[in-house]
Amino acid sequence: VHVLKDYKNLLYVSEAGIGLITLNRPKALNALNSELLKELDDLLDEIARDANVKAVIVTGSGDKAFVAGADIGEMQSLTAMAGREFGKFGQQVFNKLENLPQPVIAAVNGFALGGGCELAMACDIRLASEKAKFGQPEVSLGIVPGFGGTQRLPRLVGKGRAKELLFTGDMIDAQEAYRIGLVNKVTPPDELISAARAMAEKIVSRAEVAVKLCKAAVNRGLDMDLASGVAYEAETFGLCFASADQKEGMAAFVEKRKPVFTGK
Ligand code: CAA
Repeated sequence: VHVLKDYKNLLYVSEAGIGLITLNRPKALNALNSELLKELDDLLDEIARDANVKAVIVTGSGDKAFVAGADIGEMQSLTAMAGREFGKFGQQVFNKLENLPQPVIAAVNGFALGGGCELAMACDIRLASEKAKFGQPEVSLGIVPGFGGTQRLPRLVGKGRAKELLFTGDMIDAQEAYRIGLVNKVTPPDELISAARAMAEKIVSRAEVAVKLCKAAVNRGLDMDLASGVAYEAETFGLCFASADQKEGMAAFVEKRKPVFTGK
């Protein structure tokens, strides 16, 4: 087990190629203040550089919340300019998470509201405990979502469903989140982390270069028109043939054995 640094609002351990980030401000239901966001920004830089980490899981401490949003106490007295800067910083950290080279699984263990729902949406894949609740309650506070919610929610669940959640501020449970495509899978609370681990282990067992290129192709492609996206895919497809894992993966298939990937 590799413990990276002592953060005040985060716990981080990596083991067997899997990094586990736990947002850790349980008294404030893991609400995102500037200090936590700065620590997360720093940790993501460390993880991006760490060749031993091949997949990441993000979860919340305690049994109640994943993240109950951006810190309302900190936002209460912001000026317009300061609000814009706070929003831009959160967006920057979440963009960094979304574009981390390694795949990221959100294990949503409880409330994922406002910035918490936005954090989950910046992850590649979302698993939810049966106790999880999702929502963008910002309009009840007189603001709009500021960490990407107005953009990532419609891209994940479609414009109409996103607008309903954004305009009403309603919370939905894990089953409804699953039904509308906001989460990939719902598990009993005590099986959430093991389900996330099992998925991460499966991903880690695949060809690392190919997994990273899949992530880049999906993320970059969704910002392009289809013709440009498939052209980008062709480049990543070609690049795979420069990897040892492509040779191993195809040789193993032909020889009817399991591949032994090296991540090269
Ligand atoms: N910011 C700061 N503190 C928060 C918080 C938040 N977003 N959410 C919860 N807390 C704090 C509470 O103030 C409380 O602290 P105290 O014990 O010191 O009073 C503690 O966490 C426990 O919360 P509650 O007593 O409220 O717990 P509950 O079980 O009664 O309710 C809840 C749980 C429904 C999640 C409720 O806490 C809640 O509605 N939280 C706010 C949710 C919200 O509006 N999130 C959006 C924030 S705006 C945003 O995120 C903007 C953006 O897009 C960037």
